[in-house]
Amino acid sequence: MTEKATVTPWEVKGDVDYSKLIKEFGTQPIDDALLERIKKHTKEIHPYLARKIFFSHRDMNWLLDEYEKGNKFFLYTGRAPSGPVHLGHLVPWMFTKWLQDKFDVELWFQFPDEEKFLFKENLTLDDTAKWTMENAYDVIALGFNPKKTKFLVDTKHAGIMYKEAVKVAKKITFSTVKATFGFDNSTNIGSIFYTAMQAVPAFLPSVIAGKNIPCLIPLGLDQDPHFRVSRDVMQKLGYYKPAILHCRFLPGLTESGKMSASIAETAIYTTDSPEAVAKKINKYAFSGGRDTVEEHRKHGGNPDIDVAYQYLTFLEEDDKKLKKIYDDYKSGALLTGELKKICIDKINEFLAKHQKEREKAKKQFDKFLYK
Ligand code: TRP
Repeated sequence: MTEKATVTPWEVKGDVDYSKLIKEFGTQPIDDALLERIKKHTKEIHPYLARKIFFSHRDMNWLLDEYEKGNKFFLYTGRAPSGPVHLGHLVPWMFTKWLQDKFDVELWFQFPDEEKFLFKENLTLDDTAKWTMENAYDVIALGFNPKKTKFLVDTKHAGIMYKEAVKVAKKITFSTVKATFGFDNSTNIGSIFYTAMQAVPAFLPSVIAGKNIPCLIPLGLDQDPHFRVSRDVMQKLGYYKPAILHCRFLPGLTESGKMSASIAETAIYTTDSPEAVAKKINKYAFSGGRDTVEEHRKHGGNPDIDVAYQYLTFLEEDDKKLKKIYDDYKSGALLTGELKKICIDKINEFLAKHQKEREKAKKQFDKFLYK
C-alpha cells in the first residue's frame, strides 16, 4: 500500500483502484453467481449490490452453505465514535439493515469508544462518550430491530470483552500489526492492542451462546485489515472465521478518496439543514460539467466523475430514473445546476426522514444496549 492510494483504517487518500485492492487484500469480487445465490434468499437484489457499491467479499459462499444447512449467522459491524456521522457512514449500515430484514438475523453493533481516543491526539474519553450517544442515534434511526440488535460499547462491556481480546492479542505479533497498519516505535501501545478489541464481537456471540455461530461483517474496505490479521486467530481459538462483505466509499465533495468527517466541506452530516446541504453541494461538489452552458449542451458532461451524480447512485433507488439522469447529463440535456438540484432534493428528502427518526431514537438507546 505504498503507491498513490492509501487505504488503512485511519486514512483513505487518493484515487482508490478497487480491483487492485481486491488483489492486494486477497479478497474475492462479488460475481453474478454469488448475486444469484444471495437473491435466492432475499428475493431481490439491493441496489448497492447491483451497482457494485458492495463489490468484494470473503467466504460468502461458505456463509450461505451454512445458512442453507439451517446454521443461521449473525451480523456484526461498528462505528468508532469520534465526531458527527455523515452520509458515507450510513452506506454500510443501511445495507446491514436490509440484510437483517431479509435474513431475519441478529446484529451486534460495536462502538469502540477507546479507538479514536487512542488514535487521535486531542480526543478525550469524555468526547467519545458523547459521540457514542450521538452516533448511536443515527444507527437506531435507520430502523434496526431493537429485539435483534445489540450494542457493545467497549469501555462499558470491557468486562466480557477483555477476556476474549487478550486471547486474540496473544496470537498477533507487533511485527504483523506494524506491517499491516504502518505502525512504528512511536505508536502508543493502546493502538497496537486495538485490533484485538475489534475482533471480539465477531465471536463473542458464540462465546455467550456456548456454540459456534457464523458471522457476517459488512464494512467499508478500509476496515478489512483488522480482520485480515484476526480471522485466522479466531479459527485457532476454535471459532468460525467471519465472512465479510466490502463496500466502496462515498466520495468526498471536493476530492477523491472518501467523505471525511474531519474535513467539514467534504462531508454532509446527518444533522445538516436543507440550506447547509444546498450550499455544500452547490459550492463544493466536484462537477463533471463543462465550463460554459454552450459547451455543455454541445459536448455533454461526465457523470462518472461528477460527485452529485455519484451521490445519487447511493441514494436514488430507482434504476430507470438514475439511468435517465446519467444519459441526460452525458448528452448535455441536463445542466450541472439541474443535476445538483436533483441531488440536493434527494439528500434533503432522505435527511428529513432520518432527522425525524433520529429525534425518536434518543429515547431508545437503552433498548439496544447489550445487557
Ligand atoms: N473501526 C471502525 C471505525 O473506525 C469501527 C468498527 C468496530 C467496525 N467494529 C467494526 C467497522 C466492525 C466495521 C466492522 O469506525
